[in-house]
Amino acid sequence: MGDTVSRRDFVKTGMSVSAATLAGCAPLVHAGGQEATLKIGLVGCGGRGTGAAENCMNSAKNVQLVALGDMFADKIKTARKNLSAQGHDGYKVQDDTCFSGPEAYKKVIDAVDLVLFATPPGFRPIHLAAAVEAGKHVFIEKPVAVDPVGIRKVIEAGEKAKAKKVAVVAGTQYRHQTSFMETIKRIHEGAIGKIISGRAYYNTGTLWSKPRTKDMTDTEYQLRNWLYFDYLSGDHFVEQHIHTIDVTDWAMGAHPVKAVGVGGRQVRTGNQFGNVYDHFAVDYEYPDGRHVTSMARQFAQTPGHVGAYFEGADGEANVYAATISGKNAWKFDGKISIADAYIREHTDLVESIRSGKPLNEAAQVAQTTLTAIMGREAAYTGKVVTWEEMEKSDLVLAPTNMEKLEFGPVAIRPVPMPGQER
Ligand SMILES: NC(=O)c1ccc[n+]([C@@H]2O[C@H](COP(=O)([O-])OP(=O)(O)OC[C@H]3O[C@@H](n4cnc5c(N)ncnc54)[C@H](O)[C@@H]3O)[C@@H](O)[C@H]2O)c1
Repeated sequence: MGDTVSRRDFVKTGMSVSAATLAGCAPLVHAGGQEATLKIGLVGCGGRGTGAAENCMNSAKNVQLVALGDMFADKIKTARKNLSAQGHDGYKVQDDTCFSGPEAYKKVIDAVDLVLFATPPGFRPIHLAAAVEAGKHVFIEKPVAVDPVGIRKVIEAGEKAKAKKVAVVAGTQYRHQTSFMETIKRIHEGAIGKIISGRAYYNTGTLWSKPRTKDMTDTEYQLRNWLYFDYLSGDHFVEQHIHTIDVTDWAMGAHPVKAVGVGGRQVRTGNQFGNVYDHFAVDYEYPDGRHVTSMARQFAQTPGHVGAYFEGADGEANVYAATISGKNAWKFDGKISIADAYIREHTDLVESIRSGKPLNEAAQVAQTTLTAIMGREAAYTGKVVTWEEMEKSDLVLAPTNMEKLEFGPVAIRPVPMPGQER
């Protein structure tokens, strides 16, 4: 089966979900058999956010992008230019529905039915909680927090979302990609026997960084270079490798019980790279003493390798390539397309809203994010870190009040040193 996007044939009406909700209806969109307009807004108008807004408009009929929010006005300007250039008939952003500054997210939440959050992960727990409190459907990019306290807020917001019947879908898009779904389904059906061990890799080159100008405060510099600051990104093991960690938890059908790891900063050592590491290797122990090795690095001019492999008594699964070798050899015969997955996660989200059966992925993505945080903490501290410790941990990375962010000096924590950290 190919990884194609299924679309329903929606008929346009003028009524939005907000109007339906305000009129006292459940957030269903059926009006005399017709689908109402779903108003969406984006908070975090960078690369992925702009892509997600486009993906969401393309995911189903009658999805209108009406509001944009970002910390910085220049980012909104660029996103407007890029999004309007596509000529999508769902693009309805106006000057008075564009909001900048630390409180922009509140205004976007007020203006729409569904909010897409693609800000640095350190803000996710606050933004998610505010959207759910307001009864709005949510798409949250991964990862969903940078520390265990943030994870608990996400789990709480997810429970509230269930009670309020609002959807929460996460940007762990492989969960919506047919090749991944088919491969993991076969693993769960026993195609390779019980998993004995696994390997997961996110070895890539370096990412972008922005120069510091004379007038930039620490806050602005760090926000514009959020990848390199632990309290904003969670470090690349959490920010990027989460995709393969998500596949690992999914394949294993569990979270790990403990982790031990190593990591450091070997190549990317300058101050402009904040306080994060450039390489990690973590050994996760899952229930029944089964181990998964998890490695991530961001080194320029080295070969990249992103993948997840699982071995069982009857064979091996290569999840990214969608193949199984051994007793029950199999190969996915459709298209392996991440571009389709980026749309399909929104199709699934919108359909779940319109059918009145909102998807809720909050607990799932919170588990995966905590798995990644646990691996990072194992490398940062040099200690064996257990799941119970992580669940109870009061660790907060933010050196500043993220709810009432002010622009000025921000003292970041030193680069973590195993044996000295926490
Ligand atoms: N699912 C995927 O494959 C995928 C791919 C890339 C990025 N991502 C995730 O998407 C998120 C955004 O990544 P990106 O690459 O688009 O980064 P980016 O830097 O291009 O965009 C982030 C935007 O958020 C804005 N911002 C920062 N703080 C804000 C705040 N408090 N309120 C409003 N706006 C704020 C920034 O100004 C910037 O425009 C991250 O969580 C990242 O991990 C996911």
